Amino acid sequence: MTKKKLVFSGVQPTGNLHLGNYLGALKNFVSLQKEMNCIYCVVDLHAITTFQNPTELQKNVLETVASFIATGLNPDKSILFNQSSVSGHAELAWILNCVSRIGWLNRMTQFKDKAGSDKEKASVGLYIYPNLMAADILLYKATHVPVGADQKQHLELSRDIAQKFNNDFNCKDFFPLPDPLIPKNVSRVMSLRDGTKKMSKSEESDYSRINLRDSSDEISKKIKKAKTNSEQIPVSLNELEKRPEALNLINIYTEISKTKIEKVLNEMSGKEYSFLKMKLTELLISEITPVGKEIEKLLKDKSHLEQILKKGKEKANIIAEENLKNIREKVGLI
Ligand code: TYM
Repeated sequence: MTKKKLVFSGVQPTGNLHLGNYLGALKNFVSLQKEMNCIYCVVDLHAITTFQNPTELQKNVLETVASFIATGLNPDKSILFNQSSVSGHAELAWILNCVSRIGWLNRMTQFKDKAGSDKEKASVGLYIYPNLMAADILLYKATHVPVGADQKQHLELSRDIAQKFNNDFNCKDFFPLPDPLIPKNVSRVMSLRDGTKKMSKSEESDYSRINLRDSSDEISKKIKKAKTNSEQIPVSLNELEKRPEALNLINIYTEISKTKIEKVLNEMSGKEYSFLKMKLTELLISEITPVGKEIEKLLKDKSHLEQILKKGKEKANIIAEENLKNIREKVGLI
């Protein structure tokens, strides 16, 4: 029997979404919507694992939904909602906290990065965050999860948790083992200031990232300032791979222009970086600024966005409650 395919993914409402979110996740969300049933979630419970200003958080939830829609998600086709509005996420997370192992969580590199040098001061929520992520996915028995490469380890943990639950409660195949869908070309968009770090909302300098709401001027300034080296663009892929900043810019160009990297290198190699930067700026402006304008437009009608979340919550809750009923039964909760 072939299993019904279902896509689930989530994005944290922690401020402006950027080019990494767009190329690593959102573009994939949109194309999957054409072939499968999809559920996309604004994961506000994940966001509060580090302190969020409550007013800002509410604003950011709406901005994230607006970004979903502006990039092409259709709320009539896919389910769009915010995590805290379906209480099943928190309930299943608790059950999975009891399935997941401390040794597994201790291996999570993202916790080590986010908690920094003083782990004792990190919230417990931040530590058990990957269990909540597993709950998000398993609550819907999702089979496919589009994410950037930074989430790969969390996805592997979700599979381990699903497998252990199926074994512990003697219910083979109860939870499908979710497959990550990670973009091949740009699975990790890097910072414009340091090609060895991923582009991220939390990096202090706004010059490190292209935000979806950046103006043409801002995009142009950021690409102009993007770190490169004084030499010319390398001639071979081998050489390029030794220069993370150049590789990142070429990768972004390759992805947005939908060209093969070899072809881009043919066009660019031996030229000055200013040539690549000029071409990349043009491309980014035509790809990103329409999305930014659409976000601004959508944010003018907050009640429309709230309505979308409300409808999404109702649809998500029906699936979640049905699955939770069976999960509670398996565990022996009356
Ligand atoms: P978050 O909010 O950090 O990022 C949202 C999505 O964007 C991808 N991404 C990137 N891709 C490429 N290059 C980058 N520089 C880059 N930065 C971010 C992320 O991989 C992600 O796909 N834990 C998740 C949210 C989450 C989730 C889930 C995802 C919660 N529950 C269940 C999938 C399924 C996170 O913090 O993503």
